[in-house]
Amino acid sequence: MLYFLYLVLLLDFKNVPQVQATVRLVNGFNRCSGRVEVLYNGQWGTVCGDYWDLSDAAVVCKEMGCGDATEAKASAYFGQGTGKIWMDNVNCVGTESSLINCVSAGWGVTECGHGGDAGVICQDLVRLVNGMDSCSGRVEVFHDGEWGTVCDNGWDLSDAAVVCREVGCGNAREAKIDAYFGEGVGQIWMDATQCTGSETALESCNSTKWDIESCTHSEDAGVFCNPPVRLVNGINSCSGRVEVLHNGQWGTVCKDFWDSSDAAVVCKELGCPTGGEVKSFTFFAPGVGTIWMDDVQCTGTELSLTDCTFRGWGTHNCDHTFDVGIICRDIRLVDGSNQCSGRVEVLYNDQWGTVCDAGWDLTDAAVVCNSMGCGTPIAAETGAFFGQGSGPVWLDDMSCSGNEPSVKNCSSMALGTSTCSHEQDAGVVCNPPVRLVNGINSCSGRVEVLHNGQWGTVCNDFWNTTDASVVCKEVGCPTGGEVKSFTYFGPGGGALWMDDVYCTGTELSLTDCTFRGWGIHNCDHSFDVGVICREPDFMETEVQSVLLFSK
Ligand SMILES: *[C@@H]1O[C@H](CO)[C@@H](O)[C@H](O)[C@H]1NC(C)=O
Ligand SMILES: *[C@@H]1O[C@H](CO)[C@@H](O)[C@H](O)[C@H]1NC(C)=O
Ligand SMILES: *[C@@H]1O[C@H](CO)[C@@H](O)[C@H](O)[C@H]1NC(C)=O
Repeated sequence: MLYFLYLVLLLDFKNVPQVQATVRLVNGFNRCSGRVEVLYNGQWGTVCGDYWDLSDAAVVCKEMGCGDATEAKASAYFGQGTGKIWMDNVNCVGTESSLINCVSAGWGVTECGHGGDAGVICQDLVRLVNGMDSCSGRVEVFHDGEWGTVCDNGWDLSDAAVVCREVGCGNAREAKIDAYFGEGVGQIWMDATQCTGSETALESCNSTKWDIESCTHSEDAGVFCNPPVRLVNGINSCSGRVEVLHNGQWGTVCKDFWDSSDAAVVCKELGCPTGGEVKSFTFFAPGVGTIWMDDVQCTGTELSLTDCTFRGWGTHNCDHTFDVGIICRDIRLVDGSNQCSGRVEVLYNDQWGTVCDAGWDLTDAAVVCNSMGCGTPIAAETGAFFGQGSGPVWLDDMSCSGNEPSVKNCSSMALGTSTCSHEQDAGVVCNPPVRLVNGINSCSGRVEVLHNGQWGTVCNDFWNTTDASVVCKEVGCPTGGEVKSFTYFGPGGGALWMDDVYCTGTELSLTDCTFRGWGIHNCDHSFDVGVICREPDFMETEVQSVLLFSK
């Protein structure tokens, strides 16, 4: 959507043609943010971000009828424009009525490329105050130089929907009344709001406006909106492919530079446990549509993923096979030999701590293995078997029944009251989420993989010895993987979980390799793949004779 304001500049000289210039904001979160574009000589062009600062942005914000400038963005934060770069070295005093009146290098005089396009984030005329996060709170409206509230008469979900969209958040979840987010102060600007739901700004909705005297602040309206980020195609609402809402459209995020602190920002924003495990590539199937963010780098303190540093909306060098996915967990296994073994650590109040080994047994270990997406437990380790952790010993005297979703649901001593030392840190060894079935020994067979608590098979499309060796290593066998396709080890039943698998060979688990997404395939069980794991230099003929001999 393009929001723009016409400004007619009539030059008061004889024989000088009438110059008409227009400023607009493109590709922003809402009508008060975006890449700055100027129409000059009938052609839209951008502004170079060199020397671009808050006083320049302030002129644009005022010109657009928005609130104060909160950020001056350079480096194509809102994506790269095309065509002319009309202005460079812009230097506004701040009092100009239009950007085109500011000092600059001259129309079209520049050494910039579009990678330097300037943008602005202006305060919108609506804000959410005193909420749980950036997408909830008391609704406040900016009018006549002052923030005021909205009275809750007739306040409903269609009104909330307009507010949620205007502040750049997801769908409206709830419309709140009776000063749910506390009473505001100052003016009450609107009442009896009746939005149809499709308006782009609250101000355009039918309502009683300005200087409401029939209400008090105990009737201030509020909203809960969904955050501008969501997880898609996961096993629960706290796992999946990361998607972000921008300009009214959902798109994906490229995995370049993505790490657990970026994942933690998303987990927190969604109200999920903040231990974020990164699943790159296609663990949750590739998305479609726009790739919105690339080279994301969060410090960890951001309230929203959209506040983190990145290349600019829609600017990327990725394709959808690099879409990032995450699993938000409150448990992790540390210092084990693979992703399914290690010291058990749990997260409370954003701090990782350990579990005391008093009463620690295989039933407790089963709950850990299951919540980590691993197979059955092999061992419940005690006495800091995987080394001593640090920080609090959160849990002690654990007694799980075995089917709890998390160790946090098991009965135990009250949180943080343990007097155990880290010498008693508990650990687990679980079976990996991959197994070999129906082979001649534990190092051969049909490949099966565990997902969402269910074992399923793998299609042999593109399967080769590199993929086989990842499986062999994961199940603890010799890493020379020989491929046995089709029904060499008999066809499996149930789910066909993976297809078009591509491993680089360095993955710790088959599930970290690229594939089409869980359960997405063009196979049937007659294509189930099998492997024989052997020493890398073991000769093919010897394998055959061993097989013949043992059959
Ligand atoms: C706005 O309110 C007026 C007065 O109540 C009413 O006549 C009109 O139909 C309303 N318009 C919309 C779009 O609801
Ligand atoms: C497990 O604990 C969480 C958090 O306390 C709770 O929301 C959930 O309902 C519990 N689940 C079960 C099955 O007890
Ligand atoms: C397996 O296939 C991938 C993708 O085509 C390729 O990069 C890799 O080199 C292959 N491995 C072997 C051992 O041929």
